[in-house]
Amino acid sequence: MNLFKIETTDFSFNLLQVIYLVGSVSFMVGLKMLSKPESARKGNLIAAFGMIIAIFGTIFLYGNDSGDEGVEIDKTINYLCIVGGIIVGTIIGAMMAKKVKMTGMPQMVSFFNGMGGACAMIISLVEFDKLLERINSPGGNFKIMFEGFESDMTDLGIIFLGLIIGGISFAGSMVAFGKLEEKLKDITLPGQQFINIGLLISILTISGFATAGYIENPNVVFLVLALSLLYGVLFVFPIGGADMPVVISLLNSFTGVAAAMGGFLYGNKVMLIGGILVGSAGTLLTVVMCKAMNRSLLNVLIGNFGGGSKGESKEITGSIKEITKSDAAVLMKYSKKVVIVPGYGLAVAQAQHVCHELEQILEDEGVEVKYAIHPVAGRMPGHMNVLLAESNVSYDKLIEMDEINPEFKTTDVVLIVGANDVVNPAAKNDPASPIFGMPILDVEDAAHTIVMKRSMKAGYAGIENELFYKPKNSMLFGDAKKTLADLVSELKSLG
Ligand code: TAP
Repeated sequence: MNLFKIETTDFSFNLLQVIYLVGSVSFMVGLKMLSKPESARKGNLIAAFGMIIAIFGTIFLYGNDSGDEGVEIDKTINYLCIVGGIIVGTIIGAMMAKKVKMTGMPQMVSFFNGMGGACAMIISLVEFDKLLERINSPGGNFKIMFEGFESDMTDLGIIFLGLIIGGISFAGSMVAFGKLEEKLKDITLPGQQFINIGLLISILTISGFATAGYIENPNVVFLVLALSLLYGVLFVFPIGGADMPVVISLLNSFTGVAAAMGGFLYGNKVMLIGGILVGSAGTLLTVVMCKAMNRSLLNVLIGNFGGGSKGESKEITGSIKEITKSDAAVLMKYSKKVVIVPGYGLAVAQAQHVCHELEQILEDEGVEVKYAIHPVAGRMPGHMNVLLAESNVSYDKLIEMDEINPEFKTTDVVLIVGANDVVNPAAKNDPASPIFGMPILDVEDAAHTIVMKRSMKAGYAGIENELFYKPKNSMLFGDAKKTLADLVSELKSLG
């Protein structure tokens, strides 16, 4: 008996539907649990469980109902290909996940997202080929295949959508990956917005006409693919540093929608639901982030994001002043309220644990300590929350930007640990700045600010920060982990 020969039965079909239902519910429960740091890990596992049963259910049960009762289908080749793919993918994915540093997560997310887009794109190409084969009977041409075949027309529309969205998502994610890896620079072509709008209109028009049967050449599918890839590249290339998070989140939602198209094509409910969940969650996150950064979604789509800066940037005057660790320790010890602003540098230095220790020592001294969380601090949404939760900082001490901003007026010391763009006043007072309009933490309202970083180098957006030159500010140069550890020792020695 051949182990890989499976009998077609109603039972396998029904079982698969139950598995898809359980898988879909797991995705939803998992997603819900991801919204709170305490339950996020469990939520991730639940969603992963749903994905595993959906994958294995599909491998072993999908298509077994397609023949007559009792007919045997030989799936040996399919199994060999699938198992081979799973082994290779698992090894590469596990190695990448093990190697990646927390600070490299956005690149990895972007890369994996790009792979999702590529999958959707390939599914569309394969399905297009099948569609041609199915309908294009000998002697028929591309046009004939649409006449009188409404369901095929719908399929073709979905194939085009999967191809376009998957292609944009793949190309855009790869460019985002290169930019986050600092291998690619921002490039803006003259009239970029118009080129992007023109490309988008061309893609939609050509695919629309092809779907309606007005374009006869099957190679139109490659034209649409090429234009979509080009649009993906051109749309991400000009996006300025500080705006990348929004784009990554948008591309993520694109991949979800592209996967949902695959779900439509295969009539696969779990793929459809999974894709819709990723697409809608990504869209919501994009909208929330756009709002948090005071950007419009339309600008993201036509690739003019962060390109609002016009003219010369304001010249920064004043001088910087340094503070010693012992003075900083004394200043904080005798404060009533200290707010810590964590940023990307805290993650680079892996200083979250020692930061928590500093917080506890200050609290033992009777100082009220809170953390100010900017929505795009770090390099991915929720980066700071995850980092600080890892060192057991109580969640109620993490205060979102809108809530903490009015509190700076009553704060004695703001300790800015490896953050830069999120406290840059240029966002408020320099219309020429690429981050102009982005809400920031109003740390200037506090009595003192101390900026802890290694040098005077710019942050992610690549711009100077006038906060460093303000009379109320002091610089505390050095690696965040080492400096925080020294501050802890100083505080301990003060008794
Ligand atoms: P940044 O503006 O990037 O500033 C981080 C600062 O940390 C740098 O100026 C750097 O200065 C310092 N630093 C690096 N390593 C350090 C270390 N070991 N010890 C101490 N300091 C260190 O970070 P931010 O204020 O968190 O702002 C985030 C930026 O990233 C925004 O522009 C945001 O748009 C962008 N971004 C965010 C996301 C999301 S969703 N959060 C995703 C992609 C991009 P030195 O080199 O002088 O030490």
